[in-house]
Amino acid sequence: MKATAVAPANIAFIKYWGRKANRIPYNPSISMNLSVCETTTTVEFSSELTRDVITRGFDSARIVEHLDRLRKLAGVKKKARITTENSFPASSGIASSASGFAALTVAAASALGLTLSERELSALARVGSGSAARSIPDGFVKWEREYAYSLYPPTHWDLRDIIVIVSRRTKKISSSEGHDRVKTSPFFTRRLDAIPGRIKRLETALKTKNFPLFGAVIEEECLDMHHVMQTQDPPLFYWNEDTRRVIDAIQDLPAHYTIDAGPNVHVFCEAKNEPLIVSRLNEWELIINKPARGVHIV
Ligand code: PMV
Repeated sequence: MKATAVAPANIAFIKYWGRKANRIPYNPSISMNLSVCETTTTVEFSSELTRDVITRGFDSARIVEHLDRLRKLAGVKKKARITTENSFPASSGIASSASGFAALTVAAASALGLTLSERELSALARVGSGSAARSIPDGFVKWEREYAYSLYPPTHWDLRDIIVIVSRRTKKISSSEGHDRVKTSPFFTRRLDAIPGRIKRLETALKTKNFPLFGAVIEEECLDMHHVMQTQDPPLFYWNEDTRRVIDAIQDLPAHYTIDAGPNVHVFCEAKNEPLIVSRLNEWELIINKPARGVHIV
């Protein structure tokens, strides 16, 4: 009753910000899995344990709650030992909940002998952490409601996500709290009205590999989400001075940015332009990702 799974983190082009009950999102989101930012999780169920033992978990109560869901599905009562390693520093400001809950879901399901489809695994991961639903399928991924599915394999478009680490501090306000307060922003309904058109443009850009269109959409979307975050009650300001400096540094280059719930900047370019962009960003620590496959058992 033991299994190990590796799951990638993912970066959203169209963001998930705001959710209904059971982590059903207000709007569809589209993301790319990251090749270098991964979580490896081993789960072992044992009748010798009297409680779940978690080494280096970021939120033990949430992990136990998630294991209970899987145990219930399998009709198993045994407790588990969970070991987790991130390939990126836990405090790097890169979300570990997506890769973490995707790896936990698939390792635990496998250790329990559950045979579940990709969609079922994605829906289960979603209940643990919304964005984890998108770390299950391969490559470029869309999540509409219950589960996420692959739009294109990782080989579809040789993009780079150069993550510029401008701060290693963990965020003060969790995204969980932020999701529940979206409706306090006067701009949230306007955001929801704009999303369908933006998704259409992004899907065209991905299909035709149109980098300027891709860049225009991800920047517009990033600024829109942060506009809503900053006008929520309480307001969420995730950027710092270097966030702005990175944006300024790439203005004249064939590169575009997006930013999640933290100050670090994800700079996108096509593979052929990677050396040029990297040389411009050399004062910061960089983590360079390619598109990656989804979760897998090792
Ligand atoms: O899955 P959560 O609750 O950590 O939410 C993630 C929210 C953003 O990272 C800001 C956007 C996204 O779609 O990943």
